[in-house]
Amino acid sequence: MVPKKRILSGMRPTGLLHLGNLHGALSNWIDMQNQYECFFFIADWHALTTNYENTESISDNVFNMMLDWLSAGLKPDKNTLFVQSQIKEHAELFLILSMITPVPWLERNPTYKDQVLQIKNRDLSTFGFLGYPVLQAADIIIYKADGVPVGVDQVPHVEITREIARRFNHIYGRVFPEPEAILTKTSKILGLDRRKMSKSYDNAIYLSDTPKEIKAKAARMITDPNRIKKTDPGNPEICNVFTFHGLYSDKEDIAQINMDCRAGTIGCVDCKKKVSKNLEKFLLPVKEKRAYYEKQPDLVYDIIKAGNKKAKSVAAKTMEEVRSVIKI
Ligand code: TRP
Ligand code: SF4
Repeated sequence: MVPKKRILSGMRPTGLLHLGNLHGALSNWIDMQNQYECFFFIADWHALTTNYENTESISDNVFNMMLDWLSAGLKPDKNTLFVQSQIKEHAELFLILSMITPVPWLERNPTYKDQVLQIKNRDLSTFGFLGYPVLQAADIIIYKADGVPVGVDQVPHVEITREIARRFNHIYGRVFPEPEAILTKTSKILGLDRRKMSKSYDNAIYLSDTPKEIKAKAARMITDPNRIKKTDPGNPEICNVFTFHGLYSDKEDIAQINMDCRAGTIGCVDCKKKVSKNLEKFLLPVKEKRAYYEKQPDLVYDIIKAGNKKAKSVAAKTMEEVRSVIKI
């Protein structure tokens, strides 16, 4: 049997996951778990790069992220689910890679340039922030991952990872494969205000939202702006509520709403009520799993412990090779 390809990806623990995360990265991971040998981890050290002054919530966020992952359907017995900061080998490899990484590679990294311009309320002129992709490279190559499922914003980091791996192999001898980015399709779903769904825009619906919260949020959603009266004909193609129907409603409902909206025979208020019901139904199994794990936090900690142990054994083995080729 051909061994399964190994993939690895991570998320920073920045808070509860929303539908945009679910239909983007997470559902992609869930699809991959049968096909690949998967390592998924929570990048809590990476959370430090921008939040070094605010660390109180990081460990709660780690726990909550694992809850979200498990309730969305990542299987602990199929994947290695772990926490970055518990595998100290990442830090050792990060240090070694930082010795061979030219600073200009990091300075021309587009995500670095963007964030320095965008984030004005924190001092990001730190060594660690500039070195973000070097830590990410260590995360990836320490597991000798073949593929890295990421969104388009992370592709430059995988590119830098390949360059660093190549440079290491060139200097010391071949230890690391060069990982490929596996591009995640971005979710079509927008936030309540039709901007990208994001925690920082306050326009997100979370996997853990209650039915009441879902209803209230759906009521806030912006619809076809040309529809003023209920009898105005609408255009579902430009309406985010209709995108939600596409994901959560059944075929007949979708077809009916499509017709009624265009004919001006359904009001947006009713249309939103329908979508929130169907979304609630869709989230029911997710909520059930969340409740199951929330009741037994020790189970979640055991899953993390077992994942850490597996990850650690792979990382430790790679580090033996690394130390041997660099002769330290
Ligand atoms: N930088 C990634 C993000 O912000 C998170 C991350 C850290 C990551 N290390 C990784 C992703 C390794 C893939 C592989 O989304
Ligand atoms: Fe959107 Fe539904 Fe209103 Fe049509 S009826 S504009 S699909 S919310």
